[in-house]
Amino acid sequence: MAPSSKNLMPCLALVILVSSSFCEAREFVVGGKRSWEIPSSPDEFNKWAEKVRFEIGDSIVVKYDSKNDSVLEVSEENYNNCNKSNPIKSYDDGNTKITLDRSGPFFFISGAQGHCEKGEKLVVKVLSAKHSGFVPSSPAPSPLDDHNIALAPAPKKSAASALKASFLGGAAVVGINYGFLLM
Ligand SMILES: *[C@@H]1O[C@H](CO)[C@@H](O)[C@H](O)[C@H]1NC(C)=O
Ligand SMILES: *[C@@H]1O[C@H](CO)[C@@H](O)[C@H](O)[C@H]1NC(C)=O
Repeated sequence: MAPSSKNLMPCLALVILVSSSFCEAREFVVGGKRSWEIPSSPDEFNKWAEKVRFEIGDSIVVKYDSKNDSVLEVSEENYNNCNKSNPIKSYDDGNTKITLDRSGPFFFISGAQGHCEKGEKLVVKVLSAKHSGFVPSSPAPSPLDDHNIALAPAPKKSAASALKASFLGGAAVVGINYGFLLM
């Protein structure tokens, strides 16, 4: 084998690895199995949230008794003051799924009288696409399609997918160069 063909193998392996590592969107039940209610220690929900690496596209599921509780998404200020008067969104179906559709913090408090003050509140921090390595789920191109990607302009969907396209494109260009050397 020519030295250049040896180098090609790890390169292709990398492309395949990147293609197959697209994360499925995940669902997290807030507090683990614990339901959304006044916690036994005030920072219980946030302690749980700090252990999870939330990524864009993930969802949280909030379970509670819809008769006497609810979930409000609020501003940071209203979170800090347990102010329920002007929520961004409110939910009271008892089994609320909220998709984390952007990076940055989301603030939630209980809509039940006095519950937020007793610690029924939650901050979910979603990692930026760059930080988490998240790529929006789209059909992963097979290595055989790389030529097309290299020649096509990068789609303007998002920074992450553009980054992915340029990475695969770059890998394809390297692959083509190696292919040329082997001819
Ligand atoms: C909520 O209401 C249900 C009955 O509707 C009751 O069984 C439950 O204990 C209540 N929970 C709280 C936290 O008050
Ligand atoms: C609660 O928030 C609203 C607007 O979000 C504001 O007008 C009101 O003054 C706040 N109330 C308290 C007690 O901070």
